[in-house]
Amino acid sequence: MSTIANYLRKNHNQCEKLFTELEISVNAGLWDRADDVFQDFQDALENHFKMEEEVLFAAFENSAAGGGPTAILRNEHQQIRGVVAMLTYALTRRSKNAFLGHSDTLYIMIHRHNAIEESILYQMTDHILFEQKQALIDAMENIRSASAAESAALAQ
Ligand SMILES: [Fe+2]
Ligand SMILES: [Fe+2]
Repeated sequence: MSTIANYLRKNHNQCEKLFTELEISVNAGLWDRADDVFQDFQDALENHFKMEEEVLFAAFENSAAGGGPTAILRNEHQQIRGVVAMLTYALTRRSKNAFLGHSDTLYIMIHRHNAIEESILYQMTDHILFEQKQALIDAMENIRSASAAESAALAQ
């Protein structure tokens, strides 16, 4: 049986793969490629945040556990979005140094954030929301596939 932890850990890995590809492209000065990968990375990250904020965190906040840990995680999403905005600006200016400086910061922030989610929050939700587990995974999967369909339509 799938778990929330496994489902979202896989999603973290997909985002991280795009992030690595993005840094490789910028390092190599492949700016057009970097633009494309950045778009994919940004979409994947926003999509992941949406799955967490609208489905997982919301369910956690409605449970007996309350909203303490998720308030911190929501706040971190906002901080991460702020650094992504700085990356957008550096990419527009084709500024490799600025980009790689911000991407180092982003890497550390995302890495720490994901580690907390994977080792604490996802495990807690699998435990506390055991009976809703499959419904929550389905709701997150709906968000993911809606966004994938939207991207495919835009690419046509
Ligand atoms: Fe998160
Ligand atoms: Fe996450």
